[in-house]
Amino acid sequence: MEPDERMMARLKAGCICKGVKLIRLIEAIENGAATFEQVAVVCGIGDGPCKGKRCGAKVQQLLLARDGLG
Ligand code: FES
Repeated sequence: MEPDERMMARLKAGCICKGVKLIRLIEAIENGAATFEQVAVVCGIGDGPCKGKRCGAKVQQLLLARDGLG
């Protein structure tokens, strides 16, 4: 990930419902979280009003990108 992408991820929402920035999701995956459920536990996301609909899609994108499929 490019440094400017990381910078932007500090500003962008990861989980809008819980007010968690995108960088937290990225760091969780870098630290070994391999599924949405694992990222959700580490970051405290996924149980807001949308029940993980929005942040779940972002985590899936990040996991695909990590695997070179995104
Ligand atoms: S955006 Fe994460 S629970 Fe709604």
